[in-house]
Formats: sequence, structure tokens, C-alpha cells
Amino acid sequence: MMTFQGSHILSVSQFDRDAISRILDVSAQMAPYAARQKRCHVLDGAILNSLFFEPSTRTRVSFGTAFNLLGGFVRETVGEENSSLSKGESLYDTAQVISGYSDVITMRHPQMHSVAEFAKGSNVPVINGGDGANEHPTQALLDLFTIKSEMAPYQKGLDGLNIVLMGDLKHGRTVHSLSKLLSLYDNVKVTMISPKALQMPTNVVDTLVNAGHQVEITDTIEDNLACDVIYQTRIQQERFASQDEADLYRGHFSLNRHVYQQYCKNHTVIMHPLPRDSRPEANELDTDLNDLDNLAIFRQAQNGVLVRMALFALTLGVEDKLTQYEKPITWYSNKY
Ligand code: CP
Repeated sequence: MMTFQGSHILSVSQFDRDAISRILDVSAQMAPYAARQKRCHVLDGAILNSLFFEPSTRTRVSFGTAFNLLGGFVRETVGEENSSLSKGESLYDTAQVISGYSDVITMRHPQMHSVAEFAKGSNVPVINGGDGANEHPTQALLDLFTIKSEMAPYQKGLDGLNIVLMGDLKHGRTVHSLSKLLSLYDNVKVTMISPKALQMPTNVVDTLVNAGHQVEITDTIEDNLACDVIYQTRIQQERFASQDEADLYRGHFSLNRHVYQQYCKNHTVIMHPLPRDSRPEANELDTDLNDLDNLAIFRQAQNGVLVRMALFALTLGVEDKLTQYEKPITWYSNKY
């Protein structure tokens, strides 16, 4: 099994099934702390530097929340314009300096492979919060955690999963990382629904096919949604040359209650990494699904806190000390 302590988390390619199983087990142990049933201050005094050079709500805030929930301090840099990268400083130099101020670093950057380049200059673990259209490994891990927990009531799991990935599969880094992780399981069927110009990169498809999985590539919704999980994605406007080009593809694969009732199974779970684009011209996941029990999107986002807590505990080597550092909650909370 991989050694977590002191390791960078840059790509899902680092993980085998045992490593993923360990991460998901430690994530589950974080649930009482995230639910405010008790506190854990195992990272009391530790410092996270959070460097987000691209917009983010969930990843940035849930990394910070996760670190705070384990007792650590968080310092944030948001936007390249607020960093000396904008003065021409290299990623290597920035990493040398920031790692001197930190115990662990989380980073998002618009360029593919930039986080790995940064990590070469860092003396502390670096966790990839998304590098351009390349990867989003912590999202893929929280997606696996969500699939596992959402499928459990149906006596289903990751082996034998029938999943639909839909939307902008070319630029969506979350579906790239998730597909690579799913390739580690057995007998998975992946249906990839996208406009022809936004199909999944060949190397990602090959990873699944070479592992013996069934992959269907199509540009139609009809008769392709009878599955366990639909993983919807947004047209990634920021990866197109212009808004006009992105507009060509918006609104093609909207999922709403009518489509769900017509084509999905009773147990089909809907996931989306979020943000969903709720503008009328996009609306890839209609708000008329909001009261559907199988809409897992907000549970999915919440699971991000658990998985990111687990990654901090594992990379900083405290995953077996959690219970030694527990305290009671002293304030009102309606979370439990
Ligand atoms: N899922 C996700 O990465 O969301 P943010 O862009 O808000 O972090």
C-alpha cells in the first residue's frame, strides 16, 4: 500500500484499491466530527496554506473547513493577482517559500500539471485541488465515497456499477479522475454522453477499456439513462476560446424531472460535482429535481469535507490518533 505520510496527492494514478479503501475508511471515521457530535484537535497548531488561483467554492472552503475541524489553522491566497506569481515568480520559488510557512498546502491552478510542478519545489505535502482540465483527485475520491454510500441501500457497490457520465467530458477534470479510479474496480459499465466535440479524451477511455470495462460513447440521452448513477457535468466555459463557442454546447443534455421519470430507474442516483449552471440557457440539472431523494448533489458536496479531513490526517500521519484528541462540543448545533 502507498505511504500517505509526507506524500503529495497530485493524481488518482497514485492510488490502488487498497489505498482508496484506506482513504474511504478514514473518511467515514471523520463523520462524527463533521456532524459536530464531538471535536477533534489532532492538528492543533498545524498550518494549511490554501492557494487557489482559479475560482472555487466547494474545494477551497471544504479544504479549509476540514483542516479547521481537525484543529488546524488555515491561511488563504485567492487569485493569482494577489500572489507574486503575477510579478513573474515561478511556481518552484513560490513553493519553496510557501512550504516554509506551512505543514501542508492545497492548490488549484488553471494550467494542466501546474500543481505537480509546484510540488517539486515544496518541502511539505501538496494536495491538488484541480489543475486545469487535467485532474481533480480529491473530487474523484469524494465521488467514490458518495457512490459507495448512495448505493449501499440497494446492496450495490463500486464493482458492477452502471454509471452515466454526461456533459462536457472533454474539459471536465472531475470525470477524467473519476473514470480512472473506476477503472480499478470490476465489471463497470460507463456510458459517456456528450456532444461529439466534447467527448472524453481517448486516454481516459482507453484506461477503462484496457481494464476490461464496458464503455459506450454516444450523443443521445434517450434509452441511455437506465443506470445506477448519472454523473452530470457543466459546460466548462472557462476552458473554451470564447463564450460564443461554449454557448454552442449549452443546454443540450438538460436533466429534469420529466427526463428522469421517462428514462431512469427508480433507484438512479443523480450526482454533479457542482457548481451546476442554473442559467436558463444551460440548466444542465433542473431545480425541479431538488426534492428528489435520489438527488445526491448536496450530500456529495458535504462528503468532500470528510474525504479532505481524511487526506490531511493521512498525509500528516495522525489518522490513528483521532480518538486521543477528542473533546465534547459545547455549543448549540442542529447538525445531529
Ligand atoms: N466541485 C468543485 O470543484 O467545485 P468548486 O469549483 O466550487 O471548488
